[in-house]
Amino acid sequence: MNFKDIIIKKRDGLELNQAEIEFTVRGISSGSLPVYQIAAWAMAVYFQGMSEMETEFLTKFMAASGQVLDLSRVEGICVDKHSTGGVGDKTTLVVIPLVAAAGVPVAKMSGRGLGHTGGTIDKLESIPGFKVDLKHDEFIGQINRIKAAVISQSGNLVPADKILYALRDVTGTVESRPLIASSVMSKKIAAGAKGMILDVKAGSGAFMKNKDEARRLAELMVKIGKKLNREMVAVLSCNDQPLGRAVGNALEVKEALDTLKGAGPADLTELSVILAAHMLMLGHKFTDFAEAEAWVKKAIKSGAGFAKLQDIVSAQGGKLRWEADDYGLGTAEWVFTVTAEQEGYVRNLDAYALGNIAMNLGAGRKKIGDIIDHKVGLEILVKNNQPVAKGQDIAKIYASSETSGLKAQRLFSDAYTITDSPAMDEPLIWDIIT
Ligand code: URA
Repeated sequence: MNFKDIIIKKRDGLELNQAEIEFTVRGISSGSLPVYQIAAWAMAVYFQGMSEMETEFLTKFMAASGQVLDLSRVEGICVDKHSTGGVGDKTTLVVIPLVAAAGVPVAKMSGRGLGHTGGTIDKLESIPGFKVDLKHDEFIGQINRIKAAVISQSGNLVPADKILYALRDVTGTVESRPLIASSVMSKKIAAGAKGMILDVKAGSGAFMKNKDEARRLAELMVKIGKKLNREMVAVLSCNDQPLGRAVGNALEVKEALDTLKGAGPADLTELSVILAAHMLMLGHKFTDFAEAEAWVKKAIKSGAGFAKLQDIVSAQGGKLRWEADDYGLGTAEWVFTVTAEQEGYVRNLDAYALGNIAMNLGAGRKKIGDIIDHKVGLEILVKNNQPVAKGQDIAKIYASSETSGLKAQRLFSDAYTITDSPAMDEPLIWDIIT
């Protein structure tokens, strides 16, 4: 087979067959195809799209391009969760212990943050001693013992995606529905769980800025997952403003712990409860959603979810001071405030801008390999449509230096507006696809 012919076929809008897609994926993961040809192919896909059948083949061959996790020794129906990424999204830290507390096993492989969004592994590494690399036997053993483990994505999981994603990132071809769907779903399929919930975000802080695009992506991923014998649910949620109040690793861990104690922000609590309840349905613990939801709320009230997170942290070597206000996570040296210059209602808190401010403080990476500062970030005290008085604190900035803190303070002032009246609150969860 000649890869140039495959590129031309796609460029001309024709459907690739199974053999051509298999050849492409093999060539990407083996390194036998030159990057300029892969980039040209990705651009052809970007403009011409792919049929569902092509996307399904692409997902399947990408998933099989490296290690496939064997969860056959896990007792029970293993469930997984994936977020397409948003600012302030720490739901994994809340949801996993709640699901595990109900006895449904969660084998979670998570990623690191890149750019304006954070990653669960970076958040967990703000816990002193927390190990994110467990051997396969340790991983399975911990899941069977306490029903959950969270590890960093194995280097050999879906190597084709690693190469393709890095190329897409620098060739303007990330924003392609079939390429995003196959990238996400191949990793989820290789990670082995039977039931999956996808949190597909739309808004300024998300990949998909537009709700229609997010819905079409969610529908495509649910279809592909079902064809590959997975039980699937997608929750469509909004990330125009950050989720919760905290943006930055240690600050987000603290907020997740507070949420498990019933003292978290309303939006983070609402989304976490819905995601966890659907995961309990996917794990066949409940057949009635209202019962699942009631169970999750009770597990927050009783502290069962918080106790389960303590188990997970201890099992993975993490050391926190559970009684301390900051759980022993510590905070950055410099703290600045952003204050309201007039009275009114906060509007248009821009998740993308705030995510970038946090990244520039050191909470995220501009490029792979950058070192994270776990203690820096933002605490948003007043969210969209809430009233403020002149001079009231709207946010706190936690910085490692005076210079970076003052810069963040200046930039934060351009990332929201104050108006005379509030707008209608956008629903946080705007649809669920099953
Ligand atoms: N997340 C992924 O894993 N892949 C994409 O292509 C986009 C977001």
